[in-house]
Amino acid sequence: MEWKNLIYEKDAGIVRITLNRPKALNALNADLIAELDGLLDALEKDREVRVVLLTGAGDKAFVAGADISELAHMDSFSARIFAEAGQSMMAKIARLPMPVIAVVNGFALGGGCELALACDFIYASEKAVFGLPEETLGLIPGFGGTQRLARKIGAAMAMELIFTAKRIKAEEAMVLGLVNRVVPADHLMEEAQKTALSIASMGPAAISLAKVVVHKGIEVDLVSGCYMEREAFGLCFASPDAGEGTGAFLEKRKAVFSKS
Ligand code: HXC
Repeated sequence: MEWKNLIYEKDAGIVRITLNRPKALNALNADLIAELDGLLDALEKDREVRVVLLTGAGDKAFVAGADISELAHMDSFSARIFAEAGQSMMAKIARLPMPVIAVVNGFALGGGCELALACDFIYASEKAVFGLPEETLGLIPGFGGTQRLARKIGAAMAMELIFTAKRIKAEEAMVLGLVNRVVPADHLMEEAQKTALSIASMGPAAISLAKVVVHKGIEVDLVSGCYMEREAFGLCFASPDAGEGTGAFLEKRKAVFSKS
């Protein structure tokens, strides 16, 4: 496939997607959202892919938000359609069977912060800056940010960030629980790759099951979540990896899991 706004690389089961509009700080326009949406559909069907890393081109921004030059021409109808396209694309990230790590190399503002929040977890460069500045534009977040941020860091902290449009640095974002790890800029991708390789060494079915149960579980009560967990635990035994993993432990050797 040909991409206008994305760089797609795949090596040893690890896919790196680079959002590539550096002159506009990788702002999300309708074209980029549609391309990413199509790529996520393709990844869902690619059995070789074990982990996806999502980052921004250049050394300044992950994504500086939705493209304001497009927003400026919208009316209520087209704005809702645009929000829906972004939300639908971002919801696909959680539905992918493999983990997606946001590798935040700079500004993650507005829709960029929302995109990072839609990933399974975030690694950030020391230079990264997070924020939801939509209120400064007379808008609110529209790609799931009001929902995912409140679920992640609590409603009160999310509301403060949204109401004040305050930008926070990576370290503060980590204290709030928004970011998993803060890494010097030069080592960010290397650290993310290391984590991706570690995940890729596990059994793919068990990783997928863990992902789905965590995502679905936070939407339901504890009893229902635990029900899903034990059903998924049972499903692990449908893969040869469960026998291989437990057998390898007892035989004091390293497990060799299936590739897909
Ligand atoms: C379009 C953008 C952009 C954006 C930056 N650019 N952000 N273009 N949409 N979101 C463009 C600038 O116009 C400029 O283009 C170039 O990128 C470099 O940006 P500068 O502003 O010159 O860089 P700098 O002074 O370093 O400031 C960086 C920045 C600032 C702090 C990130 O660009 C900024 O505040 N951007 C907007 C952030 C924002 O408000 N995001 C929320 C958008 S609303 P030229 O051609 O002049 O060089 C949103 C809603 C999501 O995300 C939900 C929708 C449903």
